[in-house]
Amino acid sequence: MWDYSEKVLDLFYNPINQGAITDPQEPDVAVVYGEVGSIACGDALRLHLKIQESTETIQDASFQTFGCTSAIASSSALTEIIKQKTLDEALEITNKDIADYLGGLPEAKMHCSVMGQEALEAAIYKYRGIEVEQHEDDDGKLICSCYGISEPRIRRVIIENDLTTVEQVTNYVKAGGGCGTCQAGIEDLLIEVQQERTALSARVASEVASQATNKPLTPMQKINLIQQVIAEDVRPILLADGGDIELYDVDGDVVRVLLTGACGGCASSSETLKNSIETSLQAKVSSTIVVVPA
Ligand code: FES
Repeated sequence: MWDYSEKVLDLFYNPINQGAITDPQEPDVAVVYGEVGSIACGDALRLHLKIQESTETIQDASFQTFGCTSAIASSSALTEIIKQKTLDEALEITNKDIADYLGGLPEAKMHCSVMGQEALEAAIYKYRGIEVEQHEDDDGKLICSCYGISEPRIRRVIIENDLTTVEQVTNYVKAGGGCGTCQAGIEDLLIEVQQERTALSARVASEVASQATNKPLTPMQKINLIQQVIAEDVRPILLADGGDIELYDVDGDVVRVLLTGACGGCASSSETLKNSIETSLQAKVSSTIVVVPA
């Protein structure tokens, strides 16, 4: 049995904004719909928008869906979220926003929130005369032929939702959930995205650090950089050993940290502080930093 939030159940039993929107044939008003999924795959959503053309504002939204509890609740939630937003504002909405509005969705049902976000995008691009396929697939290749899911789409959902496993990707976009032959390709994409993230973080850290050598950091820049070094260089090592770290305070060059988990009660924690954390912070933030326990 799925563990649904109260909001999901409420919107399932009492869906709002269900149905189509009739075009009133009024000046300055356009009615358009975007569609994703397919009935053959078990999920399909058509999202209708009524748009005030002069301001590009969504005056009304409704949906028709063929799907489960989560699909109905996600669609209802989406229509509520986007009303009175401009099209540009609506394009900023992610599937996470939909899931958050619902108080969360079971992970195996996250594809319903992704479907909502994609239907919204499809409707807006259609209104603007842009083919969604052109936008989404660019020159991307098809990864999952069972569900017709391209590389850019999988890449995007991995990045936007911080996904790390093939199973999660299947939960979010269904790719990999059929014959399974594409799972190796999904795995490769997960590794690629992770490598790109690591390379980007390293570049940002070194750029900030090189700025730091030329110009003193502001207190805010310094705290941000310390947080970044802890998150990227220190924390993964401690997590691997069953421990964790929290930045407690920064006072000038004194950085106070809280070691928790296995590191919290570890007899060698002060050694860890000196050798690992302080050395990293001295190398990347300031050579005068001293790390002490909170
Ligand atoms: S090709 Fe992706 S599950 Fe079959």
